[in-house]
Order: sequence, then structure tokens, then C-alpha cells
Amino acid sequence: MAKPHVVLGILLGLAAVSTIIALSVLYSQEKNKNAESSPGVVPTSPATTVSTTLDQSKPWNRYRLPRTLVPESYNVKLQPFLTPDNNGLYIFKGWSTVRFTCKEPTNLIIIHSKKLNYTTPNGHRVTLRGVGGSQPPTIDRTELVELTEYLVVHLNGELQAGSMYEMDSEFVGELADDLAGFYRSEYMDGNVKKVLATTQMQSADARKSFPCFDEPAMKATFNITLIYPRNLTALSNMLPKGPSVPFLNDSTWSVTEFHTTPVMSTYLLAYIVSEFTSVEQKAPNDVLIRIWARPSATAAGHGMYALNKTGPILSFFAQHYNTAYPLEKSDQIGLPDFNAGAMENWGLVTYRENSLLFDPQSSSSSNKERVVTVIAHELAHQWFGNLVTVAWWNDLWLNEGFASYVEYLGADYAEPTWNLKDLIVQNELYRVMAVDALASSHPLSAPASEVNTPAQISEMFDSISYSKGGSVLRMLSDFLTEDLFKKGLASYLNTFAYSSTTYLDLWEHLQKAVDNQEKIKLPTSVRNIMDRWILQMGFPLLTVDTRTGSISQQHFLLDPTSVVTRPSNFSYLWIVPISSIRNGKPQDKYWLDGVPQNQSDLFKTTGNDWVLLNLNVTGYYQVNYDEDNWKKIQNQLNTDLSAIPVINRAQVIHDAFDLASAQKVPVTLALDNTLFLIRETEYLPWQAALSSLSYFKLMFDRSEVYPFMQNYLKKQVTPLFNHFKNVTNKWTNRPEKLTDQYNEINSISTACSSGVPECKQLVTELFSRWMGNSSNNPIHPNLRSTIYCNAIAQGGEREWDFAWEQYQKATVVNEADKLRAALACSKKVWILDRYLSYTLNPELIRKQDATSTIIAVAGNVVGQSLAWNFIQSNWKKLFEDYGGGSFSFSNLIQAVTRRFSTEYELQQLEQFKNSNIGTGFGSATRALEQALEKTKANIKMRVKHRHKPRGDHVRTQKGAKEKPQKKPDLQTS
Ligand SMILES: *[C@@H]1O[C@H](CO)[C@@H](O)[C@H](O)[C@H]1NC(C)=O
Ligand SMILES: *[C@@H]1O[C@H](CO)[C@@H](O)[C@H](O)[C@H]1NC(C)=O
Ligand SMILES: *[C@@H]1O[C@H](CO)[C@@H](O)[C@H](O)[C@H]1NC(C)=O
Ligand SMILES: [Zn+2]
Repeated sequence: MAKPHVVLGILLGLAAVSTIIALSVLYSQEKNKNAESSPGVVPTSPATTVSTTLDQSKPWNRYRLPRTLVPESYNVKLQPFLTPDNNGLYIFKGWSTVRFTCKEPTNLIIIHSKKLNYTTPNGHRVTLRGVGGSQPPTIDRTELVELTEYLVVHLNGELQAGSMYEMDSEFVGELADDLAGFYRSEYMDGNVKKVLATTQMQSADARKSFPCFDEPAMKATFNITLIYPRNLTALSNMLPKGPSVPFLNDSTWSVTEFHTTPVMSTYLLAYIVSEFTSVEQKAPNDVLIRIWARPSATAAGHGMYALNKTGPILSFFAQHYNTAYPLEKSDQIGLPDFNAGAMENWGLVTYRENSLLFDPQSSSSSNKERVVTVIAHELAHQWFGNLVTVAWWNDLWLNEGFASYVEYLGADYAEPTWNLKDLIVQNELYRVMAVDALASSHPLSAPASEVNTPAQISEMFDSISYSKGGSVLRMLSDFLTEDLFKKGLASYLNTFAYSSTTYLDLWEHLQKAVDNQEKIKLPTSVRNIMDRWILQMGFPLLTVDTRTGSISQQHFLLDPTSVVTRPSNFSYLWIVPISSIRNGKPQDKYWLDGVPQNQSDLFKTTGNDWVLLNLNVTGYYQVNYDEDNWKKIQNQLNTDLSAIPVINRAQVIHDAFDLASAQKVPVTLALDNTLFLIRETEYLPWQAALSSLSYFKLMFDRSEVYPFMQNYLKKQVTPLFNHFKNVTNKWTNRPEKLTDQYNEINSISTACSSGVPECKQLVTELFSRWMGNSSNNPIHPNLRSTIYCNAIAQGGEREWDFAWEQYQKATVVNEADKLRAALACSKKVWILDRYLSYTLNPELIRKQDATSTIIAVAGNVVGQSLAWNFIQSNWKKLFEDYGGGSFSFSNLIQAVTRRFSTEYELQQLEQFKNSNIGTGFGSATRALEQALEKTKANIKMRVKHRHKPRGDHVRTQKGAKEKPQKKPDLQTS
């Protein structure tokens, strides 16, 4: 699946870089980020608390399947009803057969089944048959165990080891709109409501569609048949065997049988019934590529970008893995209202519309980048994950980390001029370090015994698995070299095709590749090196003293007083591959080999020489130096910044702020490291600064410190603003490079928010031109988010009403999203109040967009208290209509309380908690507790720094929980 993220910010006050806002600010910032991006920490105590209360000697009380039976093949026939039955329920009917081999004698058949009602005529829920002459025992009784989601068949005798059986069943399930298993999705086509049926099996919901051995290692073949309304289209993992035929004697229904799948895991199955249409082409190796979407989106050409990029990406991965694409077709479909970012179902990948469809008229470059990287992520899984699968969810990090790494390679191949590979540091590595630097982090790899229940499986889908997994695999590929890494990878895929593995299998094949050559020498085995990165949490801070050449490592913790309760066999020491430059020239590789401290001439300097470690930040660690070396790096940056690679210019800012927050360097040093920005035009260093400083604004944008921030910011950003004004010929062209396009947006949003007069004029002028002729939007899609937001902030009712009208007319989701966010930028209280009230009316703002709209209003300094009042007065309704179990509710509480830093706000929060205990807080329960704790910490911090002027201004906006929105044009100001 695809993943979470974001922060966007601006700059700080500099002049007298001495008495600045304290480290605690930054520290709480990181803490805050952690709370938002990690839905939960993998439990430290083994097993499940629930199951310990059950009789574990009964195999149906254990969450893992017994190994007695192994499936070989399934026939699954499903009939979804896209109109409600007499009771107003949407349902599907199903018929299934599973053929399995008995490995050990048993008188039980335990198979997953969730929310299915059996209608098999014999009254036993199932019937059993022997295959190849074996005689099955008779059925004593069957039962459904709700907790462990099993159908249990008790037999009057034993199944024989080595024998094969077939079990048939008939059943009915609800085609609910719950985004799980076989489910229903509704959308509006003009004024007509449409219904489609689709699937999301990962992680444990195939069992909600038909009875199955629902664990990833229980691979089998599947013969899928769909019965569906005649004028619709049915899709599944495979192509149909032939044309559809009428269903029995009812010609309003069609039947399509699909080809038998290869041996595969249940969580990768997919079937969809809809009226969608497609564009298609043949890839060079004859693979059929199709992009499916709502008929109007297909007709408008919104599938063309995905269609054109899929072929190259598939060829790239076939070459990268040295393995042909395993199927004969690749379908990809954009679904309205799909909850995750995307899902890699084998041969039928499902996406949110905004992650697959692209409208050149109204979508920005970052919308486009998102499409190409999400496609690359999902297609990478077609081999790594689908062809070879990790045996159990505790190794999810290998699957998701791998895809999170190679998505950058695949997307880079499809868009070679975009330098996408450079973005991994900002988007994955720095993002996850903020979480991984806390004492409450967890290792990449969890013991299989600690991951049992569906809830525990869900907890594995966090930024550690995705972003740390990706960062660590990138480091491994870098120190092995990509060539060697690819050799080992191909051998692994070849060996384990159609079966399942653990991460140790990958290490073994990489080791073989290392052993078969002479050039690359490692200090010890791949496994010994990697164990330390995946079995212990966190990462090392390297400290270099250039006066002596000493280099040491320690576990980096943002809060130096935090207590690490998780023991490590490796004492929090790592085997660290180190690259470095001296005065801009590369030096030899060095390994810090699991010892706390060592010494090398590579790191010793004299005179004006400086060294800088972790070239291009391929290593998953941070670096600190003696003060002299820092000063020399600053000098270099202030005289000729090109001597330091652009990723490392971002590193100098990022690491220094983290070090300052951990009280390893003075905050003034971090600020001095940003001085060179006045001459910097590249995106990555700016983005590092804006992200690092984002918390300042939250704390101080309502305080007397704020004007100082604004002034400093204005001074720093003016040259950047002028630079892009020239490059773009007064904003009429876009810069060529993607990262320049992103930084152009940063320059405008920062200049406008810090009060550069020319920026305000620019915004007003463009927006009024659009208002003058609404059918002809003169604003380039890249700039729309920031122009809309600033124009609405500066404007009044007229501007707001115009944007609202455009929002209601928008037919493309990317354009609608930009407008909806910008509408929250108004500075007028009554306008924001009215906008908030719209969120309770689904005719005005769709239900799925309600919470994110309130969050956008809360992100506006004028709207924050309004949003808080709104939530307090409407909690019951919000909770009942929108609560459920979704992430968005905890995001809501977090967003609206983010600025809380006064006693009065604390009291209100406590009162809110007490007066709504009756209604409850659902998924926001933990967020509420965290908000209370954070508010208390913020109060202390503000009191402490009230009289210390200078500082900054920053902005932040969180994207969707499931998948990062990491692009600068998705902000509001
Ligand atoms: C699925 O179809 C294949 C190909 O016709 C067949 O060999 C297999 O036995 C079928 N599976 C079941 C459970 O009948
Ligand atoms: C399919 O038929 C149903 C019922 O006749 C109708 O409501 C629907 O609009 C049709 N859909 C398409 C795509 O033709
Ligand atoms: C570092 O990254 C840049 C792209 O930003 C690339 O051109 C350069 O080759 C990389 N350096 C090394 C040593 O890999
Ligand atoms: Zn994935």
C-alpha cells in the first residue's frame, strides 16, 4: 500500500543570532510530528492481551492458523447487488470451493470467515469431498468464532496426512460502504448517484468476501467468476477466459470467468464491478496496460499520463529485477473515495483518483509527481511483494520499505529530468528520523509472535516500516553498489518466485553476490551489518573532532533526558558506512565497526580544511562536528556554496536543528547554518529550513515576537523571490527543473506571508484577472494553491464567494481540493464561521472532506479559535455523523489544539473532555490525552521565552494520514 506526511514552513529571525527561542520548542515540534505520523507503537510485550484470557489449547482461539491444512486452489463465484434489497441492505451472494492438502492428521478444519452468513443447503454451512479417492469423515458440526474470525468444522473422524479434499460453501455477505473486503463505493456523476463494487483485502479482509486461509504464506491459485448487471464491466486480477455469457435464464445479469491466477496470497486478490471505461496500450513485451476511470474522466484524457508512464516503469522494473513482468496484463483503476493511497493487487492496482489521474489543465507538477511515484511504488510490488511475499506481517517493513525505496528509482526512470532520487532524503529519511529519534520508537523488525491480531497487523503500517525501511535499504544498496544489490535481488526473486520469505533470505542472496566478487569488501557479513539497523530502534549520531580525527557514535535522542526502556543486544552501537568530503573532494570509504569510538586521519584537519560526512545523506545517521569545523563549513557556504552538494546543504541545516533540539549544539549554531540561504536558490536546503522551523510559527504567531520573525523572513526571502521573478520572466513561465518549480512556490508563499509588497500585488492582480473572466483561469496550476490562499486572505467577501462558486463547479478533484483549502485562508471571522457551518451540510461539503476542511480553518491563525468553538458546540453531531474509527478524527483534535499554550486553553480543553465524556471521543481518545499533555508543555515553554524576541514564523499543514501529501503547493498560508 502507499503511505503519510508533511510540513511546510518558513524562516526565522536572524540579525542578532543569539538569544533565540529555546530548544524545547524544537523538541516539542518533533514530539508533535511523532504523535501525528505514527498511529501506534508496536507493543513491547509479546502476544495479545485478548487471547491470553482464552483457552489457548483450543486452536480456534489462536489468531494464527494451524499448519495442518494447506490450500492449493479456490473457485470463487460472487454476485454483487448494486441496488439495495427489501431491507435497504446492499448484499453480495457467493459460492466457493477450496481444495486443500492435509499435512498432519486432524479432525478440524479451521478457515478464516468474517461477517458471512452461510446458506449451504445441507444445514452444515459447508460440504466436504475427498479428491483422488480419499474418503472424508462426516461433519459433526460447524461454528463461527467471531473473535479470531474463523469458521470451524468439527469432523467425526480424521483427515489423512497427504490426502486432498474439497470444501464447498454458499454464503451471503453485506456489500457495505466500509472500504474493507468486497465493498461498495458511491459517487455522483452529475446529479446521478452511481454505485460500484470493489475490494480492499489487505491485510485481513479477503475472509470477509469468502472463506479462505487468509495468511500471506498460504498461497494458492484462484478461479474468480463474477456475476454482475449486464451493462457494467467486471475486472479481476486476470483477464477473462472468454466473452461474458448471460446468467442462467436471467439475461439482465452477465457472467465472466477469469483465468486461473498464479499461485498468490489472498491479500492481493481484487475484483471490481463498475461502469468505468479505460484507455489502453500494449507494452513492448506484449503486456496489456489499461487505465480505468469514471467514463467522463477517461473521455477527458485524465488517464493518459498514467498510461504513458506505466510502460516505461514496467520495463524499468523488469530490468531492475532481471525478471519479466509475471502477468499478461496490468490494470490500474482510479476510484472516487478510496481510503488508502493505493493498493498493489496483483494485475489490478487500485488508487485514489488523485494518485492515478492527471488533468494537465488544472493539476500541478506536484500532483503529477505524486502520480508517477505512487504508480512506481505499486508496480514495484508486482514483483517484490506479489511474486515473492514476506511470510508474515511482522516483516511488512521489508515489503513496504523496499517499495518506498525503489519507487524513486522507477519514477526517476519515467521522468529522468526531475531528479526525483534527490527527494528521498527530505520525504522519507528526515521525516522518519523525527519519529525514530524518540525513546518510544521501535525497531523495523518485530518478532512474528508479537504480531497476531488484525489490529496488531494494522499497527505495522507506520512510517518506520515505510520510510525507515526505505532509507535503510537505500543505504544498503549504496554500500554494496547498486549493481551488486541488483544481482542479489534477482537471485532472491528467482529463487523464491511464487513462494514466501523472511528478510534473512534477502540477506543471504545479497551475501552470495558479495562473495562472488572481489571489488566490494565489507567489514563483516551483510547480516551482521544489517541486524543492528533493523533489530534496534533509532539511529546513531556520529561526532567528529577534526582536531584529533576522532569519530564516535551514540544513540541519537531528541530529548536527552528520555529513558530508553527497550534493551538492545548491540548496546545501541551500529556498523556505520561512512563517506566524506574534504574541502569538497571525495575521500575513501570508512567503516565505524560497531565500536563507540575510533580515530582516522580521514577526519583530521589543519588550517582552513574542513570535512563533511555522509555524502548525499545515503547513510541513515546524523553528524556533529567540533565548533571549528562547523565554522569552516559555514564559511564555505557563505563564500562558495557549490563546493557542498545540494543534499548536504540541506543536511547542514537539518542536522544542526535536530542537534540543537537535543542540546548538542547551541541554537545559534543552527541559525548560523541558515545564513547562506540568502544566496541559495535550490529547493532542498530551503525546504529543510522551512520544515525544521515550522513549529515556531505555531507557538508565536499570536505573540509579540511575531513581527520580528516577519521582518527577518522578509529580508531572507526577498532575493529568492526576485530570483524566480527573473527566471520566470515576471512569473509568466515556469522554471524547467521540478525542484525549481517547487522552490518557486516556496518563494511566493514565503514572500507573501512575510509581507513582501510586490508579492501581494502579484497575487491580487492574478486573482482579479481570473475573477474578471472566470472561464479562463490565468493562474498556472502549480501556483494555484498559494495564489488562491493569499488572494483570499487579502481579499474580502467578493473573493471568497467567487472561489466558493468555483469550488462548487470544479469537476476535477485536484482543483476542488486546492480551492477548498484556500477558502480556509480568509482573515474574516464571519466568513470562516460560515464556512465551518458548511462542513455539517453534505450537500455543500462532502462528508469525506468535512474534517479536513475544519482542520484547514484551524490552521489559519484567525480560524483556530473559531474551529475550536465549532468543535465544542457540535461535538455530538460531528462524532455521530463523522466519528467512526477513522484517522481523521484524531487529526481533527490534534490540528485544532496545536497552538494551545495558555492556561485558559488548557481549562477549556479539560472542560471539553469532562462535558463530552458521555458522547465519547472514539479514535480521538488518545489524541485528546496527548493534546492535554502538549498544552501543558507549551504553556511552560511560552512562559520561559516570553521576553526573548526574534524568531520566526512558520506554517504547517498535515496531509492525509494514509499517504503523504508532501508537496509545497498543497499548503495554505
Ligand atoms: C481452477 O482452474 C484450474 C484450471 O482450469 C483447475 O486446474 C483448478 O482445478 C481449478 N480449481 C479448483 C478449486 O477447481
Ligand atoms: C445500466 O442499467 C441500469 C438499469 O437499467 C441503469 O440504471 C444504468 O444507468 C445503466 N448503466 C449504464 C452505464 O448504462
Ligand atoms: C550526489 O547526488 C548528486 C545529485 O544530487 C549526484 O549528481 C552525485 O553524483 C551524487 N554523488 C555521489 C557521490 O553519489
Ligand atoms: Zn506499498
